Amino acid sequence: MNILVTGASGLLGSDIVLYFASSDHQIIKNSFSERPGFIAADITKKEDLNKLIALNWDCIVHTTAARDPDTCEINRQDAFNLNVTAAEELAKAAAERRAKFVFISTDYVFSGNNPPYMETDKPDPINYYGETKAEAEKRVLALCPDAIIMRVSVLYGINTGLKASPLLYSSIKAIESKTELLIDNTIIRYPVYTGDVAAALNFLLQINAIGIFHLSSEDKTTKFQITKDIASLLGKDSSHIKPLNTIPLTPAKRPIDSHLDCSKIYSLGFPKSLPFKERIDIIKDKFKM
Ligand SMILES: NC(=O)c1ccc[n+]([C@@H]2O[C@H](COP(=O)([O-])OP(=O)(O)OC[C@H]3O[C@@H](n4cnc5c(N)ncnc54)[C@H](OP(=O)(O)O)[C@@H]3O)[C@@H](O)[C@H]2O)c1
Repeated sequence: MNILVTGASGLLGSDIVLYFASSDHQIIKNSFSERPGFIAADITKKEDLNKLIALNWDCIVHTTAARDPDTCEINRQDAFNLNVTAAEELAKAAAERRAKFVFISTDYVFSGNNPPYMETDKPDPINYYGETKAEAEKRVLALCPDAIIMRVSVLYGINTGLKASPLLYSSIKAIESKTELLIDNTIIRYPVYTGDVAAALNFLLQINAIGIFHLSSEDKTTKFQITKDIASLLGKDSSHIKPLNTIPLTPAKRPIDSHLDCSKIYSLGFPKSLPFKERIDIIKDKFKM
């Protein structure tokens, strides 16, 4: 297939490109900024979008989004334009061409009050980011009933460097700070490796899957525990890292436990992710500030 990957320079998109490079697919890489080998386009602008739509693709893997919940909460119109309108326009183009559409979504479409969540559960987001992603899912499926929607939990990866992976970067910064720091120990996370998401997408495309799929790790953890685990794997002191046991006050509310039930994709033969600590042990040599 000729696959247009939007957000190809991003945390997830870059690992999708890397994974698909070893397959038979031809990849067209889109990013916002100019980069060699990429088609730069602002997908919130009609003429840029048309430039992408005119290319020779028969599948779109749409990863681009405003993904920071606090920014989305504050800049709602920008979040809507990127997360909903651009996704809808790309899905419309795919539908007109009868091409496959793959949309990356999030566990934040759920409130976190009633985990674990199955693919059939009704989204009930508690922040604007989650609202935009749930709305985009609906519009994509209305236009492309054979689309793949992949909802993922908090991502980590190293392909584009440490800074591009907020979970890893904030942990390393906290460890390196050596001053007492309180880190959230209330919100439950199931961090999933971007390489595993790329492998899952490749798997779903190969079996011609249709519909919504969940992917997260089976690690039930918190940002505090993640930071302690990373410090221990790097052999660094973390006695200055303390648990914050009250819910942090942020512009956007976070689901307390948006655990995704992933039994659907496992039942098709896709394997469970490596535990977080095992994966970090494998990639930790690439951690550079
Ligand atoms: N990160 C997470 O923890 C997480 C968790 C759950 C779900 N997700 C979902 O996973 C997907 C990928 O997230 P990510 O973390 O990989 O994102 P990311 O690292 O922030 O990457 C965003 C990508 O989108 C591009 N982009 C931004 N604005 C654009 C615009 N106006 N027009 C065209 N391209 C634009 C960026 O290009 P430049 O690099 O050129 O700026 C970059 O390639 C998103 O759909 C997100 O909702 C993420």
